[in-house]
Amino acid sequence: MSLKDNKYLTPRFHLFPKSGWLNDPNGLCQLGGIHHIFFQYSPDQPKGGEKTWGHYSTKDFINYEFTGVFMKPDIPEDASGVYSGCAYVENDTMYIYYTGNVKHAGDYDYILDGRESNTTLVTSEDGINASGKRVLLRSQNYPDSLTLHVRDPKVLCHDGIYYMTLGARTKKDEGCAIVFKSKDKINWDFSHFIEKADYGYMWECPDLFYVDGKQFLSISPQGLEAQEYCFQNIYQSGYFNTDKDLLLDGQGLGEFTEWDYGFDFYAPQTYVDEKKRTILIAWMGMPDAEYGHDASIEDGWQHMLTLPRELVYDSETGKLRQLPIEEIKGLRDKKIDIKDIEDTEIYELDLSDFGENDFSIQLNKGFDIKFSKLKHDLVFSFTDKELGCNRTCRKLKLADGERVENMKIFVDTCSIEIFINDGIYTYTTKYFKAKEIKNWVSFEGSIESIKAYSLRPFNINI
Ligand code: FRU
Repeated sequence: MSLKDNKYLTPRFHLFPKSGWLNDPNGLCQLGGIHHIFFQYSPDQPKGGEKTWGHYSTKDFINYEFTGVFMKPDIPEDASGVYSGCAYVENDTMYIYYTGNVKHAGDYDYILDGRESNTTLVTSEDGINASGKRVLLRSQNYPDSLTLHVRDPKVLCHDGIYYMTLGARTKKDEGCAIVFKSKDKINWDFSHFIEKADYGYMWECPDLFYVDGKQFLSISPQGLEAQEYCFQNIYQSGYFNTDKDLLLDGQGLGEFTEWDYGFDFYAPQTYVDEKKRTILIAWMGMPDAEYGHDASIEDGWQHMLTLPRELVYDSETGKLRQLPIEEIKGLRDKKIDIKDIEDTEIYELDLSDFGENDFSIQLNKGFDIKFSKLKHDLVFSFTDKELGCNRTCRKLKLADGERVENMKIFVDTCSIEIFINDGIYTYTTKYFKAKEIKNWVSFEGSIESIKAYSLRPFNINI
């Protein structure tokens, strides 16, 4: 099928599968100038199915090459899926660690019985050709207190020692991460647990990383109870800060901050590029959500990745800012008047100098952002059920004394990403409008500076 026959427009500046399903970003790294963006991929099944790794590469985040399936289940140890993992780069080689998922046929609960989780290594120099697979850790190598849910290895090297974090669920139904250590990237010894009481029953996709010398642990926890202003999705993702060294001490987790306040953001992964930037990319999707069947399934594909975001440490708040990486500015075509937005396919809004009073922004007749001075919150709502494909509303409470200072809004054909107050908060959602409906924007309240840019699409070979 040609993309021209699609009912909905396909993304213009977000990575997506031309056919099939995409979930977590995997194996993010840069090698010899090329950024490699692997992802969980079921090529022919838009509602998900057997998981392989797909692969995009780019030198500049504007021109992308899609090279198809990098690896698929083909050994007994990954028979039910090549699950998520990472790429650690050394000696011009990607050391790719992933979870080989095995679900045995039979009457099992797949928590305590019937599942295998095999931490497996392949190497690659180009993200296209892979070495043979080598299983490094099997279910019996993980601590006894864990269920069979152990997965998503992320590897880093610190002071000459390699550390691998894995996400897990304990037999007491508590989420945690576990840390293994190695001197040679092949032989791994269990070191310790990283845990915090009352943070759900399962942690997926742990990622221990540094920004500005400060250590953080990102996790995607499952089982946190929704509150009015936090944990509003079925599953979460966020990061802990810490005063301790989590490579040595797993009890030192500090405050947890959610990465994003939108409907579609999960399983983020970070990597450090050759410019030493820490870049985060997330899955723009949400597993098991009640709004989990996107209209794009009719066109044979589902889900996207977020824009790559640079993480910057904010010493005032101790939090991380997420900023669209600098290269995204290269997508700007020209500055336009607000009334000309209807002639664009994709655009960016750059808003600043908000007054102290209520304001609202309506995008594409059916989505609005409202600031209430009284409640001191921002509310993002789909007023058109079809446009939001059953997404409703999400809320963000500003901190005491905090004001809305600025917002960058990126509107693709089927997603909206908003960066608030220089990325201290972000909001990410998908939406679906039929091709013939034009873009549209209106504002109410005091916003002094409104700039709009039409954008150019990514150049992708699909
Ligand atoms: C997160 C996740 C991972 C797993 C992968 C399977 O979305 O569930 O824990 O490895 O997706 O596709």
